[in-house]
Amino acid sequence: MEVVNRYVVIKHHVDGAPTEADLEVREATARWAPGSGQVMVRNRFLSIDPYQLNRMKRSSASHLAVNGIVPGESITAYAAGEVVASDCDEYKEGDLVAGMLGWEDYTLFRPSPGMLMSKIDAGGDGFPLSHHLSALGTSGMTAYAGLFEVGKPEKGEKVFVSAASGSVGSLVGQFAKLAGCYVVGCAGSQVKVNLLKEKLGFDDAFNYKEEPDLKSALKRYFPDGIDIYYENVGGEMLEAALANMNTYGRVAVSGVMSEYTGSGRRAVPNMEQVIYKRITIRGFLAWDFLAKFDEFNAVIGDWIRQGKVQVLEDVSDGLDSVPSAFAALFRGDNIGKKLVKLA
Ligand SMILES: NC(=O)c1ccc[n+]([C@@H]2O[C@H](COP(=O)([O-])OP(=O)(O)OC[C@H]3O[C@@H](n4cnc5c(N)ncnc54)[C@H](OP(=O)(O)O)[C@@H]3O)[C@@H](O)[C@H]2O)c1
Repeated sequence: MEVVNRYVVIKHHVDGAPTEADLEVREATARWAPGSGQVMVRNRFLSIDPYQLNRMKRSSASHLAVNGIVPGESITAYAAGEVVASDCDEYKEGDLVAGMLGWEDYTLFRPSPGMLMSKIDAGGDGFPLSHHLSALGTSGMTAYAGLFEVGKPEKGEKVFVSAASGSVGSLVGQFAKLAGCYVVGCAGSQVKVNLLKEKLGFDDAFNYKEEPDLKSALKRYFPDGIDIYYENVGGEMLEAALANMNTYGRVAVSGVMSEYTGSGRRAVPNMEQVIYKRITIRGFLAWDFLAKFDEFNAVIGDWIRQGKVQVLEDVSDGLDSVPSAFAALFRGDNIGKKLVKLA
């Protein structure tokens, strides 16, 4: 089987904030052959994730965990689609899958143990395919693992979430409410702040761009201190959160958006605060919890069915929209999970 495959590349390494012009769409023939042991997937939804920027850099600590992206070469990415040809018993033509595929129309993969690929029960689970890249995909896994396995919330504890209207943050806040916590989120616009309070049930929320002094802003929202900080942005926000943490507070470091582009300043945590308040700061990767993926998903799926968790998705159309969709993440243009839908 031979198809014309359109795929996204970076033209060169990207070391600052990404622009649409850093990426382009190319095309080549993709071939699947019987006896190859390969599966060919026609991608339907592509996941647009901030961590891809770190892969695009010439050098980044992220390369310790995931390969850097080579200019001109196709880009592996989380995606969901339909099997169109298969040379292995596990996958049949017509199966729906979500896992590590690519920013492209078609992806070939060879099944191997430990790879991130799940078969989706078409029609059986009742969820749209896109949810398997958002709340039931890596965003859900990141939010669930970071909050429950790293943050370990107790009922009544105070939780602060940054980038709270984003894909991961919007889930963290809702999960923390379900755990009986008091939850405040920050986001970059009034529209986002209203959404957190009115639709997602956050106890409070604020626009960090309108706060000249983040330390005193957090003091206002947490007069009794923060027990868990779910960290998505880094920089001054981390410093301000540490200054407001309670003794034995936990910081679950999921990401540092403001530091990825190199335009903001890096956090300089006050380590005396960390010592004397016995604060735990722990970085983690969603992949660390891959073995619990199905367990987390069962819980999250039930919450969605019961209407206890709202899934926010922000969908652009067509492969040509990947460059703008990706750059938009770093301007805060998205609300919820940024996805690209392919024809
Ligand atoms: N550890 C893991 O395994 C793992 C897995 C997935 C994601 N993550 C991390 O989780 C975080 C959120 O990822 P996501 O996929 O859910 O993306 P997202 O939150 O849906 O989108 C990124 C958001 O970050 C905010 N932002 C952008 N630049 C910022 C800046 N300079 N300062 C503060 N906020 C900024 C924007 O919202 P505002 O309008 O609020 O600024 C934007 O909407 C990222 O740091 C990501 O790297 C970690």
